Parts: sequence; C-alpha cells; structure tokens
Amino acid sequence: MKGIVLAGGNGSRLYPLTRSISKQLMPVYDKPMIYYPISVLMLAGIQDFLILTKPEDRTAFEKLLGDGSEFGVSITYAEQDQPRGIAEALIIGEDFLDGEPCALVLGDNIFYGHGLPEILAEAKGFESGAEIFAYQVADPRAYGVVEFDGEGRVLSIEEKPRKPKSNFAVTGLYFYDSTAPAKARTLTPSDRGELEITELNSLYLEEGQLRANLMGRGFAWLDAGTHDSLLEAAQFIASIEERQGMKIACLEEIGYRLGYLTREQLLKQARKLKSSTYGAYLEKIAKSP
Ligand code: TTP
Repeated sequence: MKGIVLAGGNGSRLYPLTRSISKQLMPVYDKPMIYYPISVLMLAGIQDFLILTKPEDRTAFEKLLGDGSEFGVSITYAEQDQPRGIAEALIIGEDFLDGEPCALVLGDNIFYGHGLPEILAEAKGFESGAEIFAYQVADPRAYGVVEFDGEGRVLSIEEKPRKPKSNFAVTGLYFYDSTAPAKARTLTPSDRGELEITELNSLYLEEGQLRANLMGRGFAWLDAGTHDSLLEAAQFIASIEERQGMKIACLEEIGYRLGYLTREQLLKQARKLKSSTYGAYLEKIAKSP
C-alpha cells in the first residue's frame, strides 16, 4: 500500500500567514505541520509516499523532507497547480500508485490517541472498498458529515450540509482500493469547482463498499486550518510532549522504532540537529536501551 499526502490548497483561512508559505510547512509547536499526517501513514506501515504540493511550494517541501531516507521511507513529489479538490490527488497520483491501494491524508490533519496503529493496521488489511474515519465534533457543518444506522452502517455522507444529519465529521484520512483513480476520473467538478472526496466516497457507498470507522472520544482529531485551530493544536501537542517527555509525530523516531532506520542513522540525524530540543530528543531515543 502506498501513501498520498495532500499539501496543496490555498490556505485562505490562514491569510496572511499563507501569502508566502504553504500552511503545511508551518510549525505546530516543534515540527512542521506535515510531519503529523506523514507520521500517521508511517504508523499504518506505509513506506512509499507521494506528496502533492502547489508548484511554487515544491522546492520547500523537497528541502524539508528530501527523498525520505532520513526517516527510512521513500518520498516523491507531484504538483497540483490549482486546488481542484481532494479527489484530484488520486488522478494526479495514478502513475505513482501503479495499481496499488492507497491511504490518503490531508496535510493539515493531526490524529492522536491510544490504539491508533491498531485501527490503521485494520484499515490497511482490507482487500477492497474504501474506509473513512468519522469523529464526533460539536459543529460538523464545515466537514463531510456521515450518518449511521443502529448497526453502524453508513446511510449517507454529505459535504458541508447546512442541516447535518449527525455530529460525525469525516476526517481527512481515507483508505482506498486500487479502483479509486478510475472512480475519481468519473467525477465532475462541484459548484465550488472541486472534485469532491465526498463524491468519491459516495461512489463506494453506492457499491456497498464504504466502511466508516468511528474514532472514539479517546482520540484527538485536530485540523490546523484556522488561526485558532493552529494555536490550539500547538498547545495540545506541547502539553502532551512536555508531560510525557515523548514527542508526537517525530518521524525519525517512528522510522527507528519500525526498524527502517538503524541506531547509527538515528544518531547521525541527532547530531545534525543537535542545537535543537528535537535533535536532543533523537539522541535520547538512540541512546536509550
Ligand atoms: P482545505 O481545508 O480546503 O484547505 P485549504 O488549504 O484549501 O484552505 P482554506 O480552506 O483555508 O482555503 O483543505 C484541506 C487540506 O487539503 C489542506 O491540507 C489542503 C489540501 N488540499 C489540497 O491539497 N488540494 C485541494 O485541491 C484541496 C481542496 C485541498
């Protein structure tokens, strides 16, 4: 299974921060925002990534993440010249996917919680269909909203409904079988000019091939797309990291723990970053038994 991370979009809700820098490169406390969604796909066991950027931001992402070898993964890049919708990622990424299933994650989504690797492993294990993750939010009107029956089966999904049928928002993490690029090519742009991921998910729903996994209240799902949510996400990450002395979404640590990086490689990276607390943390991990 391969991974696609979406780091395009125009970040208009973060203006003027996003006039000169893509939002996914901005810090969420001690690391760039895009580290968080990449970490989720790494925890799902994915090692082959495509990062989709705006053409003008590609170099900055390449400078940040390189070919992925510092984290023990492979990263390649592709461009989305206009934010023509999340589902377009599957069309742009079709050659990269080369017939394999994929996980798609939005570059500004942060997931945290006990048992995350387990639910990811389960989603990765399916043979066909699509899997989305629903999360209860106070106001779901800014999201795709999923409605369930008593048995947990999906009844409907609606994009940004004015009158939501439930409080379950569709998060920015999706698993698709190999038919997703072909399905995405059948979509037509919505009124806002986007190939809607909700429409793609609806195609799976019509085929009886859409699973919705409920992320319980023990999980945190944050999207750092507005000034307030960006600040709240940073405070959330800082609180947990400070309390535990462990970092969330430290890609080198994850690569090391998954056996993609040797202790020597981790130490080398630690030395490179040694003047930051991030580098000191890598050294601590490399030297702990
Ligand atoms: P949005 O929340 O729509 O974010 P945006 O960056 O377009 O910002 P705003 O709403 O403030 O204008 O998208 C969520 C994520 O998906 C974000 O990381 C950007 C990414 N994205 C793309 O990469 N391509 C797209 O065509 C769209 C719509 C989003």
